[in-house]
Amino acid sequence: MSALIIDGNATAEKIRVQLETEIVQLRERGCHPRLEVILVGDDPAAQSYVAMKQKDCERIGILGQTTRLGTETSEEELLALIDRFNHDASVHGILVQLPLPHQISEEKVIAAISPDKDVDGFHPVNVGRMVAGVDCFLPCTPAGIQALLVEYKIDPKGKHVVVVGRSTIVGKPFAIMMMQKKPWANATVTVCHTGSGDLKPYTQQADILVAAVGRPALISAEMIKPGAVVIDVGVNRIEDSSAKRGYRLVGDVDFAAVHKVASAITPVPGGVGPMTRAFLLKNTVKSAKKFLKLD
Ligand code: GUN
Repeated sequence: MSALIIDGNATAEKIRVQLETEIVQLRERGCHPRLEVILVGDDPAAQSYVAMKQKDCERIGILGQTTRLGTETSEEELLALIDRFNHDASVHGILVQLPLPHQISEEKVIAAISPDKDVDGFHPVNVGRMVAGVDCFLPCTPAGIQALLVEYKIDPKGKHVVVVGRSTIVGKPFAIMMMQKKPWANATVTVCHTGSGDLKPYTQQADILVAAVGRPALISAEMIKPGAVVIDVGVNRIEDSSAKRGYRLVGDVDFAAVHKVASAITPVPGGVGPMTRAFLLKNTVKSAKKFLKLD
C-alpha cells in the first residue's frame, strides 16, 4: 500500500482564496485587517517564520507589520509595545514569536496580549474557552490539522486519536479539540509524552496518529497500524551539504517507511506547516470581523 499524500499547500491556498474575498468585503466597510508580529532576537528559524507570516499577509490584503527587537530587549519594553497595540483600534491581531530570550517571561507576555487580539490562541482566556468548547481563537496548528481532516473527509468521530507530544502549542490543545462532542471531533484520545515509556503499544492502536515532538524519524513503520492516518507536525532541520541552505527539513515521522503502511500521511514540508500559517490569517480576519460585529 502507498498512502495518500495530504496536501497542506493546496488546502491552505483554498483558505487564503476564501479569506481574500472576506477581506475585500471588510475593506469595503472601512476595516483593513491588521496583524502586528513582534520578533525578539535573531534566531534564524524564527526570522524565517516571521518573514513568511508577513508575506502571507501581504498576498491576501492583510496589513502585516513586523517589529524586530534586539536580544537584550527588556520585559518592560516588550510589555509596553503590547500595551500600545492592545489600545490601538486599528490592530486586530498581535503575535509575539516564541521562544523569547531568557530575561522575558513568556507567561507574562502571553497574558499581556488582549484576548480579543490573541490570534495565536495562547492567552489563558482563549485556552479556557477552547477547553469549555465555546467560541474562541483556536491555536493555529491544531486548528490547521483539524481543517486538513475536514478537507480529506477523515472524520475523527469514534476513532482512536493518539497524540505524541503534550506541548501547549500543539499536543495538548489538539487532544482537547479532538475529545469535544462536536463535528470533526468526538474521538477517543490518548496523549503520549516523555513519561509514557515505550510509545509503540500506544501508537499501534491509533486510527489517527499525530506526531508533535520535534525528533526526526521518531515514528517508524513498526509503530503504525496498517491503514492509519499519520499527521506529522515535526519541523526538524537536518544538516545537508547538498542542499542550497545547508540543511533540509524533516518531520518526526520516517516518511519513506511509514507512507507504505499508512492510508494517508502529511509530508514535511508541505503538510501541517502551511495550514498553521493559513490559520493565523483566518484568526486575524475573524478578529477584524468581530471588531465590525460581523462574527
Ligand atoms: N513559535 C513556534 N510556533 C509558534 C506559533 O505558532 N506562534 C508563536 N507566536 N510562536 C511560535
